[in-house]
Amino acid sequence: MAESVTITDNRTGESIEVPITNGGVSATEWKKLLGNIWFHDPGYTQTAATSSSITEIDGDAGILRYRGYPIEQLAEQSTYLEVAYLLIYGELPTPEQFEQWKHDITYHTFIHENVRKRFMEGFHYDAHPMGMLVSAVAALSTFYLEAKDIFDEPVLDKQVVRLIAKMPTLAACAYRFSIGMPFIWPDNSKGFAENFLKMMFEPWDHVPWRDPKLSHALDVLFILHADHELNCGTATMRMVASSHADPYTATAAAAAALYGPRHGGANEQVIRMLHSIGSMDNVAGFVADVKAGKGRLQGFGHRVYKNFDPRAQIIKRIADEVFETTGKNPLLDIALKLEEVALADDYFVSRKLYPNVDFYSGLIYQAMGFPVDIFTVLFAIPRTAGWLAHYKELLEQDQKIARPRQLYTGADVRDYVGIDQR
Ligand code: ACO
Repeated sequence: MAESVTITDNRTGESIEVPITNGGVSATEWKKLLGNIWFHDPGYTQTAATSSSITEIDGDAGILRYRGYPIEQLAEQSTYLEVAYLLIYGELPTPEQFEQWKHDITYHTFIHENVRKRFMEGFHYDAHPMGMLVSAVAALSTFYLEAKDIFDEPVLDKQVVRLIAKMPTLAACAYRFSIGMPFIWPDNSKGFAENFLKMMFEPWDHVPWRDPKLSHALDVLFILHADHELNCGTATMRMVASSHADPYTATAAAAAALYGPRHGGANEQVIRMLHSIGSMDNVAGFVADVKAGKGRLQGFGHRVYKNFDPRAQIIKRIADEVFETTGKNPLLDIALKLEEVALADDYFVSRKLYPNVDFYSGLIYQAMGFPVDIFTVLFAIPRTAGWLAHYKELLEQDQKIARPRQLYTGADVRDYVGIDQR
């Protein structure tokens, strides 16, 4: 059977055969027959905005692969920094490449004193750390003016290193400012996740953050969050990058998209939801309210995964490991009960709603000592690698500036009426 579709314009009887390539049909072909008929797809539910060779997702089969490598293998055997390299450069690094990469990231973790003193400390005392991060990342572009040379590869690669390296420093800086504690400078003798935990929690002992099991668990969580093809934040990254904005400004835009509660803000909402449920006895009533349309079950459902979210399965295992070290999060029992009730309920089953990556990640972060406000920041740190991989890919593809169309539904032409006549 031909791998194509035939489109007929019933107004004229004209037809056109459009080949199916890589699972899609080209809008350029469609345009040959139907130049002024636009696809109406506001949430991009049926639109492929690009081709990409970075991340593959099969939502029905629960498959997630970075550059062809299954997420399960990467989570088990790799490290976040190695995965970041893989996403950005397309191949796993050789030992020499990896040593250089680790060295470069480690030696670009410091932030300019003005970023810390004048910028971060200029925020109101109760500023949300994600708002601080988004602004600080955009502000970095004013410190590295050469970043505008986006087609100079070594210059662009330098900004990639800076962004990945400085994200944890900015995140810890935002957090410590928000609780009135002095900033801790990066420690170049530590690994990526370990250094972040130190900048966050030194010198406290309320959680065992020095335990290598926790830095390992955080590193795995970073791997799981490093990329997820064209989600809202990454689509924003590509949209802004298509205007050839510098990588700092584009990363800030992607982080702003991630901030929303429907996206990276969901794990924060999960914890707030579990607190509001309060006890196992209230689970059934809460689920009944959700089914009656009173709010959503946070951490459930996904635009792409309609069977299971493979990240959620790995996260559940990590949760067990973390709780062995930190003690169990008291909200875990409510979460488990909620999952059990929802997965046995036809409302959720028929709509293919399963726990997503955010359902358990918040519980782990909380047990590790992270405050709820910083959860989305924990997502932005590793996702920076994915955003930058897409930024680089888009430039290589020489893609046109992103400029969708609209279907106008407003008033027809009418004459202006002076204010005294209205
Ligand atoms: N709780 C209850 N009902 C839900 C939920 C939920 N979490 N998610 C979807 N539904 C229902 C909708 O009400 C709708 O029902 P209907 O057909 O009777 O109207 C149906 O399932 C389809 O929902 P849509 O909103 O059309 O699905 P969409 O793909 O647009 O939304 C989303 C996906 C935003 C993730 C949604 O499932 C949701 O809001 N989940 C809760 C928030 C969340 O966990 N976000 C994290 C996503 S993962 C990430 O960003 C890392």
